[in-house]
Amino acid sequence: MNKKILNQKDILKIKKRRTFAIISHPDSGKTTITEKFLLLGKVIREAGTIKSKKSNKYAKSDWMNIEKKRGISVTTSVMQFFYFDHYLNLLDTPGHEDFSEDTYRVLTSVDCCIIIIDASKSVEKRTKKLMKVARLKNIPIITFINKLDRDSHDVIKILDDIEKKLKIFCVPINYPIGSGKDFKGLVDIDTKKVFLYKKDLFKKNKNYIKIYYDLNNIILKNYFSNNEIFQLKKDLNLIKSCYGSLNKINFLNGIETPIFFGSALSNFGIDNVLNSLIKWGPYPKCRNSSTRKVQSTEKKFSGFVFKIQANMNLKHHDRIAFIRIVSGKYIKGMKLYHVRTNTISIVHNAVNFLAGERLIINKAYPGDIIGIYNKGNIKIGDTFTEGENMNFLEIPKFSPELFQSIYLKNSFNQKKLLRGLKQLSEEGVVHLFKPFCNNSLIIGVIGRLQFDVILERLKFEYKVLAKYRKVNISLIRWISCKNLKLFEKFKKENYISLAYDNNNEIVFFSTSIFRLNLIMSKYKNIIFSKIK
Ligand code: G4P
Repeated sequence: MNKKILNQKDILKIKKRRTFAIISHPDSGKTTITEKFLLLGKVIREAGTIKSKKSNKYAKSDWMNIEKKRGISVTTSVMQFFYFDHYLNLLDTPGHEDFSEDTYRVLTSVDCCIIIIDASKSVEKRTKKLMKVARLKNIPIITFINKLDRDSHDVIKILDDIEKKLKIFCVPINYPIGSGKDFKGLVDIDTKKVFLYKKDLFKKNKNYIKIYYDLNNIILKNYFSNNEIFQLKKDLNLIKSCYGSLNKINFLNGIETPIFFGSALSNFGIDNVLNSLIKWGPYPKCRNSSTRKVQSTEKKFSGFVFKIQANMNLKHHDRIAFIRIVSGKYIKGMKLYHVRTNTISIVHNAVNFLAGERLIINKAYPGDIIGIYNKGNIKIGDTFTEGENMNFLEIPKFSPELFQSIYLKNSFNQKKLLRGLKQLSEEGVVHLFKPFCNNSLIIGVIGRLQFDVILERLKFEYKVLAKYRKVNISLIRWISCKNLKLFEKFKKENYISLAYDNNNEIVFFSTSIFRLNLIMSKYKNIIFSKIK
């Protein structure tokens, strides 16, 4: 089908956009790097604006009590900043290992990922898990090896670890000269330019300046012995012959990752990462919908909701649906068609976020994230268009892994409890199930910490005190069957193990994988799905 396309000026704007996420194991330096990115993008003027765990000061995007108490970031924030003529959309992901589902959804909404690895720890568990998801979508990956100012693992060991554990080929773009107390700088492998790591005496805090010389420049003799230069040249030749040069197609297909080294805390080497994102990172292109491939350059607006956040501002009790724009452009006051509910609304007040501040947007382009206010009728995964009846197939629903029944501490607020849980489930924080056989409420989550978040949010946002009770459920599967008669028979025979989820779809509860396998072998016509 021939679709009208945007004019050249608008297409150029799309080409200047990069939508990306940063993923890492907690404590690798993601927050520090985010802050340095925002400094480079001139969104903030001084370090320490985002958060400092020790001083307990938080950026405005960290709005939850539990985040303050535990010093972790549990909600995903979205930030746009301008860097060298490009608009960069950074979708922050929660660092704590328990918040996997939200993180997974972010990873399906970005076009590129930056992975951060702590050089003193090499590849850690959480990075492995996140990388698996990024690999599902073959997202291009840029790798930053951080904390070279601390004693680090051998470079070859880290590269080996990345290739083996993350299953991606490494192509180092620069190479560190020493680490810890002996960290002297970086050398660019192709140009052989050496960037010296020198404290900026004019700035009070940990800022380092880069002065660069060619590897053969005589001035370097003031910093390195002849032996050191000889060894460095040998190392560079070895690295180049082992790892070669970056193949852009392999990078875009998630097969090779460019590797950069540096120290986020010292703001050393961070700019290389952003420069590579602009140079090699993909601009928003096309996405699959239920009916066709949608190109970003098409004139008509389309987008999908990847996140819903309620009560971002407690004073306003508002809920915001975050839409990733896929095609066309958003213009303030335009009519948007909400495909699932078959309704049209005029959107005047879409917002975006700058380090936690919300701003009303006049125009937005593919790759951008717009937040629209919502009264509870928008769900994660919903599609918005200018009238076309299609759905983006972007947001998977993962089956939860931990279950408890939830009930009120005092029995008067059942309605409020239900309202709170319904909203939290629409935000994707929790899966809510109503068993066929009784009136209990079962909730399912992916990470244990989510249980605490739910109680906390029910208490502060919905004024409901709730408690948990153990249940004997260890997994669920969404079920369906093309043959209605067989499906009815299955439902009758397994009544006590069935429940409705929040979308009124039927799920099967099992006490063990053994029992599930048994049931699956007994009812061959029933489809059991782990991901919805
Ligand atoms: P995260 O978001 O990935 O969890 O990590 P975060 O940036 O909060 O960094 C974790 C700790 O590592 C912080 O120290 C931070 O200052 C430190 N860090 C980050 N990058 C570097 C680096 O390049 N070099 C060194 N030496 N340290 C780095 P903290 O003591 O836990 O917290 P804070 O009081 O400094 O905020």
